[in-house]
Amino acid sequence: MDKVNIAIDGPAGAGKSTVARQLAGRLSYLYVDTGAMYRALTWKALQEDLPLHDEEQLTQLLERIKLELGGNEEAPRVYVNDAEVTEGVRTPEVTAAVSEVSAHEAVRRMMAEKQRMLAANRRAVLDGRDIGSHVLPDAELKVFLTASVDERAKRRHEENVEKGISSDFEEIKQAISRRDEQDANRTIAPLVKARDAYEIDTTNQQVEDVVAEIESLLRQLGETP
Ligand code: CDP
Ligand code: CDP
Repeated sequence: MDKVNIAIDGPAGAGKSTVARQLAGRLSYLYVDTGAMYRALTWKALQEDLPLHDEEQLTQLLERIKLELGGNEEAPRVYVNDAEVTEGVRTPEVTAAVSEVSAHEAVRRMMAEKQRMLAANRRAVLDGRDIGSHVLPDAELKVFLTASVDERAKRRHEENVEKGISSDFEEIKQAISRRDEQDANRTIAPLVKARDAYEIDTTNQQVEDVVAEIESLLRQLGETP
């Protein structure tokens, strides 16, 4: 089997990108962080002071910029027009704006097309919100990661503390809940567990255990990691 696509979806802080990166590294699969793509567009839209409700201006922007995911699973990087924006796309400003940008139908259509091209005929792990439900409905393996909102906020808070970024647990929790709600309630390709996805509650699990569980699911499909 040449094409093996693994879709990892779930809400903010569930561990998608950490787990997807480790898995891709262990299996030597391509890793595609689809959230970083929406974040990169949002970063550029904020730079250009575009109105985030204006679908046409956003799609024109997406057509005219060069958006690239580079680096490797150890250190993934994001580029817009060849400038590195890996850190820039993670700011609270971009985080607060990204769900509005990603709710537009035409934006999602263009992003999904790019993501399908990246995954076509290859072994790849993609993480996001709509990979199993919409972008790659025929993915060989679909996983939906969850964790309680307190646990997810705690993880983000701890990440900030480690990086020396000032951080307020309650503020993070509110921002996460707001984004979950926006992502789950949009009309186009909302955050939802695909019917055939395996749900893993990571609340009390270590990253390594989640990765091992997904590898075991993969083995059941006949793929030897
Ligand atoms: O890392 P975190 O879970 O905080 O977010 P992310 O995966 O970087 O995604 C940022 C935002 O992009 C999400 O809150 C969604 O609004 C949007 N997104 C999406 O709509 N569809 C995807 N496949 C991936 C991300
Ligand atoms: O991509 P997503 O927003 O779903 O989550 P993330 O950016 O991977 O962040 C999850 C954070 O929680 C990271 O700091 C992980 O080390 C930690 N974590 C995890 O991902 N999975 C667990 N089972 C436990 C902790």
